[in-house]
Amino acid sequence: MKIILTLSIFLICFLQLGQSVIDPSQKDVMSDLLFNMYGYSLGLDPCQNLFVICKNINSTSTFQTVTNLNLGTPTQEYVITQDLSPLQNLTVFELYSSIYLSSSFFNYVNKFTKLKEIYLQSFNVTIPDDTIFPASLERFTIYNPSVPLGRATFESNIKNIFINSPLIGFSLPTLINVNPYLEYLSLPVTFYSGFPSNLSQVFTNLLTLQIRVFNDMNENNYKNFSISNNGIFKNLKDLEIEFTDSDNPQEFSIHSFLSNVPVIDYIYIYGQGVTIDPSVGILDLSYIKADNLYFNIDSSSILNNCKGTCIKFPKYSTFDSYYCKFSYDAIDFSNLLRFYDNNNDYEQNLPNIDNAPLLNEISISSSIVVGDIPESYCRINNLFLRNNELNGTVPSCIICLGGNKGGGMVLPNPLLNFNITSEPYCPNFKIDENYTNLLPTDGTGNIIITGTNLGWAEGYGLTPIIANSKLAITIPKGVGTNKNITVTFQNGEQGTFYYSYIPPFIKSYAIIELFGQKFFTINGTGFNYQNSNNITINDQQFTFINALGGGDNDGLTGWYFFDIPNFATESNFTVSALVGGQSSNEVTFYYFNSINITEEKLVLNNTGGSVDINGSFGTNNTSLVSVSINGTNCLVTSYTNSKLTITYPSNQVGDNYVLTLNVGGYAVNLVVEYIEGGETPTPSTTPSTTPSTTPSTTPSITPSTTPSTTPSSTPTQSPGDDGSTSSTLSISFYLITLLLLIQQFI
Ligand SMILES: *[C@@H]1O[C@H](CO)[C@@H](O)[C@H](O)[C@H]1NC(C)=O
Ligand SMILES: *[C@@H]1O[C@H](CO)[C@@H](O)[C@H](O)[C@H]1NC(C)=O
Ligand SMILES: *[C@@H]1O[C@H](CO)[C@@H](O)[C@H](O)[C@H]1NC(C)=O
Ligand SMILES: *[C@@H]1O[C@H](CO)[C@@H](O)[C@H](O)[C@H]1NC(C)=O
Ligand SMILES: *[C@@H]1O[C@H](CO)[C@@H](O)[C@H](O)[C@H]1NC(C)=O
Ligand SMILES: *[C@@H]1O[C@H](CO)[C@@H](O)[C@H](O)[C@H]1NC(C)=O
Ligand SMILES: *[C@@H]1O[C@H](CO)[C@@H](O)[C@H](O)[C@H]1NC(C)=O
Ligand SMILES: *[C@@H]1O[C@H](CO)[C@@H](O)[C@H](O)[C@H]1NC(C)=O
Ligand SMILES: *[C@@H]1O[C@H](CO)[C@@H](O)[C@H](O)[C@H]1NC(C)=O
Ligand SMILES: *[C@@H]1O[C@H](CO)[C@@H](O)[C@H](O)[C@H]1NC(C)=O
Ligand SMILES: *[C@@H]1O[C@H](CO)[C@@H](O)[C@H](O)[C@H]1NC(C)=O
Ligand SMILES: *[C@@H]1O[C@H](CO)[C@@H](O)[C@H](O)[C@H]1NC(C)=O
Repeated sequence: MKIILTLSIFLICFLQLGQSVIDPSQKDVMSDLLFNMYGYSLGLDPCQNLFVICKNINSTSTFQTVTNLNLGTPTQEYVITQDLSPLQNLTVFELYSSIYLSSSFFNYVNKFTKLKEIYLQSFNVTIPDDTIFPASLERFTIYNPSVPLGRATFESNIKNIFINSPLIGFSLPTLINVNPYLEYLSLPVTFYSGFPSNLSQVFTNLLTLQIRVFNDMNENNYKNFSISNNGIFKNLKDLEIEFTDSDNPQEFSIHSFLSNVPVIDYIYIYGQGVTIDPSVGILDLSYIKADNLYFNIDSSSILNNCKGTCIKFPKYSTFDSYYCKFSYDAIDFSNLLRFYDNNNDYEQNLPNIDNAPLLNEISISSSIVVGDIPESYCRINNLFLRNNELNGTVPSCIICLGGNKGGGMVLPNPLLNFNITSEPYCPNFKIDENYTNLLPTDGTGNIIITGTNLGWAEGYGLTPIIANSKLAITIPKGVGTNKNITVTFQNGEQGTFYYSYIPPFIKSYAIIELFGQKFFTINGTGFNYQNSNNITINDQQFTFINALGGGDNDGLTGWYFFDIPNFATESNFTVSALVGGQSSNEVTFYYFNSINITEEKLVLNNTGGSVDINGSFGTNNTSLVSVSINGTNCLVTSYTNSKLTITYPSNQVGDNYVLTLNVGGYAVNLVVEYIEGGETPTPSTTPSTTPSTTPSTTPSITPSTTPSTTPSSTPTQSPGDDGSTSSTLSISFYLITLLLLIQQFI
């Protein structure tokens, strides 16, 4: 026994430390390659070499197979002539500089059926046009190509192609066939390489296009490069054009290209050469559907030569510039959200932002801006104007802060009325008296204050909505009336604000089972989220747990069901709450042990229509039933214990709707998705209208959706309820929390 044990330990050690067991043909080719490239001894295990990764062929086998080659630069240039096709499990193939392939590689490249990535730092062979790349290949990277690059690469299924640092001899092919697979293309262009200008026609699904232009018109055989705007880059998100290494750059007018990129959200332009043709007037990008375009230029001349305003962006765009020299007049600020400009060499005043209602952030630094900081800059929530040549005056909102606090935004600058030692001076500081003072109990509320020279924000709890004129004070969870909070403004002034929490309001109830335990829960607003809630049911008092949920949804409070009186089915009971000394409405609910919708989700036509909902609904009494979708009432056209039919309103396509079924106060929610579909929109869903789809309706059931003879039992339509019950959090999350809370009570 001992011997066997020792033997097997020995064997395990041998297998792990000694030679790996690798396919003989793989071992042969790897040993030959490593010996010739690096002098790696033929006797050694190729899997132990630093540049090679092997893996066990499966989890139960110790047999190994080569998966990655990351061959580092050898001491001498090396051309791989070995037949690598035995490496059939290769997934990553990387050759660092001075290692060349021979063209035979491309004859068998399709045998690497698991190959995901090829990365080559040296490249001097022609890829035959009939090369078939493996379907698994996702990324092909070539540096320093010195030969024409044939069509094969561009007609393959490869998703990502990256080619960089071309050498003399490199050229790009003419492209004819459409390739819908390519998503990412990074190409160099030189004065000798040519360029497939019809990119948008052949690469119909391209997401990212990077072009690095090495063009100098002083070179012999110089050819202009251009991109045709025939065809649309319908998916292009990211365009990056770099003009580098050029004394005498060609002019590339980007105007026509950018007229066909409907969803682009990132544009990067580097270097001299890209222009907006002055004859086209304004480059209007506001047609672009992305509403957060990031437009980034660096050392670029694109805005240098335009006359007047020459570029306009889509709404909520960001403009970001480094080392340029352009006039702010070139830019239409009306849709910009953020404006960043660094090291702009053009001497001018700060941009006029009177027609820039969305602008929220301005950062201009190390630029030759002179003159005043206009009063209009007081409303910018993120303002940064350091290291410029501003030699005029600052507005009162900055003086209010004093040099110590305001300096962080606008100094150093040779300003006339402001320096680091300036004392805060704020005679016009004013808070309007009409601030909001009724707040939710769940901690999501803010006191909104308006006024003059209120500053930005200081410390915890103050957030600018519009700097200096409209701020929000965060109010924590709480209950009750006659509260106050004192905040310190940025200029040092203090303000005390008085507020009350909204009184409790009960909307519905439900009985929910979790872990075999039943809970009686109440939904509504204004509950206590920090402490237990006092709930009165038929004059008897119960202590329910801290409320859960809240925010956009109603809150929920609950308690063990066995505590609650056991009612007869459909008997009525009254519920009210006392929270923080404030009483809720008193509601009359009807008792059901369970109301249950069987469907997991409802899919509705955006034109509106009629739909059945299955479940167990507890009663045949239609007058107790109401159904709403996001707060809009639906007409209930037929109702039984197990199936109800509603006429539902039209809505926009989307999956964040919530249907609420309320049976005598017992409410359950159901996720609703609206899809494109259906016929003519149903004209109306008001209860008074006779439903257009009534054939199956049993005559005995009155199509009334007003369940309430008692107003108090129509809990779903409270004035405070905006209907936006975009409840995405699952109820079980709340119930687990509920259970945890209840544990503490026991
Ligand atoms: C692992 O590979 C060995 C050798 O090819 C084979 O016999 C075995 O069935 C494989 N096991 C699994 C789980 O695939
Ligand atoms: C390649 O891997 C598979 C399992 O993934 C294995 O069965 C096969 O033997 C390996 N081929 C070689 C040559 O190692
Ligand atoms: C590629 O370059 C290597 C190293 O300079 C050279 O040995 C080889 O012949 C070249 N191959 C071709 C096809 O020019
Ligand atoms: C600010 O500097 C500019 C440029 O040097 C100059 O033309 C202007 O007169 C200066 N303004 C003030 C108020 O000094
Ligand atoms: C700052 O400005 C005040 C007047 O506003 C002036 O008296 C003082 O010398 C200035 N300090 C510096 C460091 O320029
Ligand atoms: C207070 O009243 C002023 C003037 O009507 C108004 O502009 C401001 O928005 C109000 N403030 C709040 C917080 O409602
Ligand atoms: C503010 O509320 C606290 C209790 O939180 C109270 O002690 C204080 O007197 C109130 N201040 C004012 C000015 O009402
Ligand atoms: C709840 O009601 C009990 C009994 O009326 C009372 O003692 C207690 O203070 C109340 N709690 C709250 C938070 O209102
Ligand atoms: C009751 O409140 C919980 C927690 O906010 C929520 O998940 C649930 O959808 C609400 N139920 C109804 C019927 O509104
Ligand atoms: C509740 O039920 C009682 C007896 O069943 C009845 O008298 C009373 O009118 C009902 N109240 C409401 C509001 O329906
Ligand atoms: C609702 O009905 C379905 C189907 O009958 C059932 O699986 C589910 O457990 C029921 N849920 C409740 C809370 O009764
Ligand atoms: C949606 O419209 C289609 C086509 O008119 C109809 O067959 C289907 O029943 C409708 N679905 C709903 C839920 O209204």
